[in-house]
Amino acid sequence: MKVYLWIFWIGIIWTVNCVAGQESCRIFRTCSECISSTLACGWCDHRPFYLTANGIRPLCDKPEALELAGCPLDKIINPQSETPVALGSTPQLNPSKYEMRLRTQTVKNVTIQVTPQQDFPLDLYILMDISKSMSQFLELAQTAAGDILSTVTNLTSDSRLGFGTFVEKRVRPFVNTNDATHSADAFNNVQPLTTNLTQFQDNIDTVETSNNQDTPEGALDALVQSMVCQSGIEWRGKFDALRMVLLMTDAEFHYALDDKLAGIVTSNDLQCRMADDSNDNKQQFPSYSQIIRTVLEENIVVIFSVDADVRDFYSLVSNLIYSGNKTNAAALLNSQLSALLNLITESYFESSTTVIPVLISRSTHIRSELSLSTCENIQAGSNLVCRNVSYNTSAEYSVELSLDEHVCQLPPDQRTQTVTYAFVGFGQVTIEVDPICSCDCENQRDENSSFCMDRGALVCSVCSCDPSYQVRLLSMVQI
Ligand SMILES: *[C@@H]1O[C@H](CO)[C@@H](O)[C@H](O)[C@H]1NC(C)=O
Ligand SMILES: *[C@@H]1O[C@H](CO)[C@@H](O)[C@H](O)[C@H]1NC(C)=O
Ligand SMILES: *[C@@H]1O[C@H](CO)[C@@H](O)[C@H](O)[C@H]1NC(C)=O
Ligand SMILES: *[C@@H]1O[C@H](CO)[C@@H](O)[C@H](O)[C@H]1NC(C)=O
Ligand SMILES: *[C@@H]1O[C@H](CO)[C@@H](O)[C@H](O)[C@H]1NC(C)=O
Ligand SMILES: *[C@@H]1O[C@H](CO)[C@@H](O)[C@H](O)[C@H]1NC(C)=O
Ligand SMILES: *[C@@H]1O[C@H](CO)[C@@H](O)[C@H](O)[C@H]1NC(C)=O
Repeated sequence: MKVYLWIFWIGIIWTVNCVAGQESCRIFRTCSECISSTLACGWCDHRPFYLTANGIRPLCDKPEALELAGCPLDKIINPQSETPVALGSTPQLNPSKYEMRLRTQTVKNVTIQVTPQQDFPLDLYILMDISKSMSQFLELAQTAAGDILSTVTNLTSDSRLGFGTFVEKRVRPFVNTNDATHSADAFNNVQPLTTNLTQFQDNIDTVETSNNQDTPEGALDALVQSMVCQSGIEWRGKFDALRMVLLMTDAEFHYALDDKLAGIVTSNDLQCRMADDSNDNKQQFPSYSQIIRTVLEENIVVIFSVDADVRDFYSLVSNLIYSGNKTNAAALLNSQLSALLNLITESYFESSTTVIPVLISRSTHIRSELSLSTCENIQAGSNLVCRNVSYNTSAEYSVELSLDEHVCQLPPDQRTQTVTYAFVGFGQVTIEVDPICSCDCENQRDENSSFCMDRGALVCSVCSCDPSYQVRLLSMVQI
C-alpha cells in the first residue's frame, strides 16, 4: 500500500507541473507527444535522469535544457528532418517527385527545375465543332489540309497532327433523334495523330456538318474524350511530347447540370468511351473541376479558338485552367487560313517556352509556398510565370514546406501529406511528406518491467501502464 500511495503522490506532483508548464515541452508525457509538438522539444531516454533522489524530472524539454540538466548527449532524442529525396525526372522537368520526412516545427525548401528542350516533339489534335454554323471552318480545314499539316510538321522534326469533331449527345432535347439524315456525335475521332497527308485528307474529306437543336454544344464532353482516349488518338506519353488540343467552336458548352433536362443523373466517369459510345447518353457532361483536373493531369495544353460571342466565356474557362496566366486565353475564330496557321505556330512557341505553375492538390495538414527563384526574363508582377525561357535554360522554382501540429494526431496510415503542382505542358511534381511523429525507442518496449512493478511496459524510460490498471490503483488508494 505504501508504494501505491507514493505513485499517487507522484501523479499529483506531475499534475501540478502540467498546470504550471503552459507553453512548455514539460507537459508531454510520452516521447512521441514530445517530439511531435511544434515546440521543438527533445526527450531524454535515460531512466536515472528521470528518477532522482529528489523526485522525478520531466523527460521532455528543450534539448539545450536537457543537456544542461545532465541528460547524456547520446540519450537526447531530437530527430531531425531528413534531406528531401528527389525521384525521377523527365527531359523537361527535374525532379518529378520528392519524398521527405519532416518534424512538425521545421520548414524545408525543395527546388524544381523546368527546362524547355529545343525541337521537343509535338502532338497537335484539332477538335472542331461541326454544327451547321461552323461549315466555313470545316471547309477551310478540308481545302487547306496540306498547309495545316505541313505547318505542324514544320514546327519540330517530330510533329504529328490529328483531327476530331463533335456536336452533341444523341438525346433529346439536345438533338432531334427523329431526324435520321444527320448524325450528331458527342465525339468522333476522325483522324488519329499522323504525318500522312493522303490519309489525313481522305479522312477529313468524309466529315459533314450536322444539325442539332439548341445552341450550346457538347464541347466539354468531346474535350475530355480527346484527352483521355490515349490509344485512340495515339497520343505519345505524357512527357514524351508537347501535347496540345486546339478546340474550335462558336457556341458555349453544356455543363454538368444541363443534363438534368435530359434526365441524366450519373456523373461523368472521365473514361474513354470511343470504342463503345452507347454510354454517351447515360452520363452527365463533365464539370469544370473535372475538366481542369483532366487538362492538368494529362499534361495537355488546350487552346481555344472561338466566336466573338462566346469569347468571354471560353476565356473564363482558360483562366480557370491556367489561373489567369495564359496570354490570349481564347483566340477569335478566323476563316483566313493564315490566321489559323499563325495561331498554331504562336501557340506552339508560347507553350513550349512559357512555364505556368498551377497547384493541383494539397493535403489538409501541409502548408506549401511556391516561388520563382530563377527566370531569365523576369517581369515585374508576373508572379510565378516565367515567359520566353530559352531552350536548354531552366526556370527554377522553390517550394517552402511545413506541417501543422495536428498531423501527428491522425492515424499513422493517414499521416502522409502531399502537394502536387502542374507546370502546364511540362508535367507535374508531387511532394510527399511524412511527419516524424514517433521515437525509435517506442519500438523497444520492455514489457512487465520491474521498474513498472511488473504491471506495465517501460517505454523510452517511462512506464506505460494499462489505463484500466491506473484507475484501479487510484481507487485502491482512495479507499
Ligand atoms: C525558401 O525559399 C524562399 C524563396 O527562395 C526563401 O524566401 C526562404 O527563406 C527559404 N526558406 C528556407 C527555410 O530556406
Ligand atoms: C517551314 O519552316 C521554314 C523555316 O523554318 C520556312 O522557310 C518554311 O516556309 C516553312 N514551311 C511551311 C510550310 O510552313
Ligand atoms: C498514307 O496513307 C495512305 C492511305 O491511308 C496509305 O495508302 C499509305 O501507305 C500511307 N503512307 C505511309 C507512308 O504510311
Ligand atoms: C497568375 O498566377 C498567380 C499564381 O499562380 C495568381 O496569383 C495570379 O492572379 C494569376 N493571374 C495573373 C493575371 O497574373
Ligand atoms: C517574349 O517574346 C515575345 C516574342 O518574341 C515578345 O513579344 C515578348 O515581349 C517577350 N517577353 C518577354 C518577357 O521577354
Ligand atoms: C540543347 O542541348 C542539346 C543537348 O544537350 C544540344 O544538342 C542543343 O544544341 C542545345 N540547344 C541549345 C539552343 O543550346
Ligand atoms: C505480462 O504479464 C501478464 C500477467 O501479469 C501476462 O499475461 C503477459 O503475457 C505478460 N507479458 C509479457 C510480454 O511478458
